[in-house]
Amino acid sequence: MGKQLLKVVLIGDGGVGKTSLRNQFIHRRFTNAYKATIGADFITKEIELEDGKRVSLQIWDTAGQERFQSLGIAFYRGADACVLCYDVTNYLTFEHLAKWRREFLNQAGIGDTNPDFPFVLLGNKIDIDERVVSRRQARGFAQEHSIVTGAKVEMPCFEASAKDGIHVEDAFLYIAKTVRIPQ
Ligand code: GTP
Ligand code: MG
Repeated sequence: MGKQLLKVVLIGDGGVGKTSLRNQFIHRRFTNAYKATIGADFITKEIELEDGKRVSLQIWDTAGQERFQSLGIAFYRGADACVLCYDVTNYLTFEHLAKWRREFLNQAGIGDTNPDFPFVLLGNKIDIDERVVSRRQARGFAQEHSIVTGAKVEMPCFEASAKDGIHVEDAFLYIAKTVRIPQ
């Protein structure tokens, strides 16, 4: 088997921290300044797993703001995994995830053809003391949207802080470890 390259797409409302999460994961850097992403771009990072296997994650950061969204959508195609991002201090960003997920499946051309498409749920900004989305609510969403074919696999839920670099790696490493491109 050759080297794995996985296309991973970050989606979610503007300002939830998609760009910051990727920056923290790739460069271990964070900035408080907000510059909205326009369109989308990717950075590739190679990860060595515990068993010595190497996986390259091609991580796509997309635009969340409504006026730039249509530009980002064009890059969903060919995705192997998708990270649904929200801000734990902003309930609306959590509420919008069902719509993001639906749009992703449609635009990526997955639709109902692959009920096993791997999504990961990621709540960001846990460093802020004003959480309004509970872990329980996040798990509820994950259960509702879990893979139902074969053995039930629940959508994994992560809570992170791109600012403090807490749990940021978890979601990406989970994808590197579990997602396999069908041969
Ligand atoms: P779009 O590109 O518009 O879709 O936004 P985005 O999801 O890429 O958000 P971005 O990473 O640009 O972050 C938006 C704002 O939130 C910036 O001011 C960041 O500094 C801030 N931010 C991002 N992550 C965190 C975090 O974990 N904690 C805190 N306190 N602020 C964060
Ligand atoms: Mg961005």
